[in-house]
Parts: sequence; structure tokens; C-alpha cells
Amino acid sequence: MVREWDPRTASSAEIASLLATLNAVLAADLPQDPPWRETSLREYLTEVMPGERRISWIAQAEPTGPDDPGAVLGQVHVLLLGDIGVLEVLVHPSARRSGLGRDLVLLAARRVYQEGFQSIGVEVVGDTPAVAFYESLGFTREYVETRSVLDLTAVDWAELAEMATGIGAGYHLEFFPGGPPDDLLEAYARAKAEVRDVDEVELRPSSYDPERLRDSLDTLHRRGMKPYIVLARHEQSGEVAGLTEVVVPAQHPTRADQYDTIVAQDHRGYGIDRAIKARMLLELRSAEPELIEVQTWNAQANEAMLKVNAELGYRSDRDWCEYSVDVAELVHRLDPPH
Ligand SMILES: CC(C)(COP(=O)(O)OP(=O)(O)OC[C@H]1O[C@@H](n2cnc3c(N)ncnc32)[C@H](O)[C@@H]1OP(=O)(O)O)[C@@H](O)C(=O)NCCC(=O)NCCS
Repeated sequence: MVREWDPRTASSAEIASLLATLNAVLAADLPQDPPWRETSLREYLTEVMPGERRISWIAQAEPTGPDDPGAVLGQVHVLLLGDIGVLEVLVHPSARRSGLGRDLVLLAARRVYQEGFQSIGVEVVGDTPAVAFYESLGFTREYVETRSVLDLTAVDWAELAEMATGIGAGYHLEFFPGGPPDDLLEAYARAKAEVRDVDEVELRPSSYDPERLRDSLDTLHRRGMKPYIVLARHEQSGEVAGLTEVVVPAQHPTRADQYDTIVAQDHRGYGIDRAIKARMLLELRSAEPELIEVQTWNAQANEAMLKVNAELGYRSDRDWCEYSVDVAELVHRLDPPH
């Protein structure tokens, strides 16, 4: 049975069953990734930025008895933001290749179409069945990044401490667990706006104005994801010359996610990228004792950043792609008029 589903009011048994399916999917497709925990999973699925909406459906097996709500075999949700719907689909490995994934996409696509949105975007992990799946549905690849993973148990901490101090004169670093303080939000948003990458399809939009930035930090906290920031301040002007953001999710606190790292144009060439990332790792080592890995995503063309990441010990893991499709075309392909 497939039905619309609201994680805010779902039973704990359904949340637990969805978690089991997610972990079965990870074990099958990304066996090196840590399994997720139930901590803040409901909030992760429920909370969105102001102005955004997430709509979900689940596919459940027949209940086996009065206490069994029916295992969650698949789930789809679509996040409506800006002018696109961002899709995520999961099908339990034991229920694959029977058309369930396609049915779930059709449900979500119909809704996105009815809501008047033009396109659907999705993140597709390289070397998994999702690539053939989305290509069979007519999605096309827009953008490819490389995911890299750093194993903190293999890090040379003394060398890292040296990197953290190897920064040009006239700059100093500041560490902010929880996000930038209020009085820095404006300078922080300015630094982010400056290097906005206009070519990227924005499935994970960054925040470029202070209000949006504050909303995005609040949303992260509500979803159980703790942000950490290291800033490089230019002492003479007080400007934010560089920043790096890492988020530790309650759902998988052994593996953190590296978000944006930015060095403003005028401040490049002073070792800021290397120093802020090294300082971040040193801080995380004491702030998050459970943490053993950090993952990051980079455009393949971003050679400077890839070089610094390699020096820090990041190893490239796999392709991470963004695909998109025109909603009307998708609905007509999957649900041709009779
Ligand atoms: C991608 C996914 C949703 C597909 O679900 P599914 O129910 O197996 O898909 P369907 O049965 O509807 O397949 C539809 C079509 O997609 C294509 N397809 C799906 N899986 C495929 C595979 N493993 N190899 C080749 N083609 C595939 C086929 O053309 C298939 O049609 P066919 O079976 O008639 O040949 C499922 O594999 C999944 O949940 N993957 C994980 C997705 C994810 O987000 N992971 C994130 C963490 S890794």
C-alpha cells in the first residue's frame, strides 16, 4: 500500500521501520557509510526552511499482526523550494526491480506538476542502481561532484596543528561551535555571496543574506544537525576573509559533513583555506569525541581546493551527481494520457 505520509505525526514504529529501510539501502549501495541512528530522525524529515514544503509518501508491506503497522518498503519525498522540487526516493533492496521506485516517482511528480513547478532535481550517487534508474526515467545529468572522505584515525595531528598556524600575517582564526554569532552574520553572508557559484544547480542552496542565513542555521539546529564554523578575520579591515563550515548530524555523528569553504577573492594566496580547515579538524577532535570521519563534496574543476583536501588526507570516494528533468515530460512519460 502506498500513501501520503507525514513524519510529524507518524508512529514511532513507522519511523523505526523507515530507519531500518534506509540502513538496508546504505548497506547495499554505500557499505562504507555509517548506518543512521534514530536520534532526531523525525525532526530531520519534518523541519524545513521558511517558505519550503516537503511532501512524503511511503509504501508499506501488509501488516503481519495487530502490533505490526506494516514494514516501510519504500519512501519518496519532494522538497518544494524556489522553482524546483528536489526528490529523494528509497526502495528496500528486497523490494527492488518490481516497479515500486517508478510508482513512487510518479506520485511525487504528479504533485509537483499540480503545484505548478517546472522541474525536478535529484542527487544521484555514482556507482549505485540509482544512476540507471533515473536515466531510465529520462532524467539528465547536470553536474558532477566528487565526494571525498577523511579518516580522522589516520590524521597526523602535529602536522595539522602546524597547518592551522601557517597563515599570512594580518589574519587570525576564530572558532564558533553552533554557528556565527549575530554580530558577524552580515559579514559572513557577504563573504558567502561573493563567491556564489552561478553554474551550480542549487539542490542545497547556500544562504547569502543575513536573514536567510539565520533561518538556515535555525533549520539545521531543528533538524538535529550541529554546525561548526571557523573564520579567518582580516585584522586591519575586520572583514571575514575566509570561512569553513562543518555540520555534525545527530543521525550519523561519527561522520560529519563539510559544507561551504570560502576564501574571499582579495584574501587568496595566504594559506587561509588550509589553515581554517586544519583548525576546524583540531577543534572537532575535542568538541565531537565520537567523530571519526569527515566527508566533503567538490567540483572536479576546483583543483586548488582538491589539492588542499589531499594534503589534509581526504581520499576521493565516488561521483555525486545532480540530475534533473522537466516535470511535464516526466509525468507524460510515466503516466501517458489514455
Ligand atoms: C533507485 C531505486 C529507487 C530504484 O527502485 P526500484 O523499485 O528497484 O526501481 P524500479 O523497479 O521502479 O525500476 C525502474 C527502472 O529503473 C531501471 N533500473 C532500476 N534499478 C536498476 C538496476 N539496478 N540496474 C539497471 N537498471 C535499473 C530499470 O530500467 C527499471 O525498469 P525494469 O526493471 O523494467 O528494467 C532503488 O534502487 C533505491 O532505493 N536506491 C537507493 C537510492 C538512494 O537514494 N540512495 C541514497 C543512499 S545510497
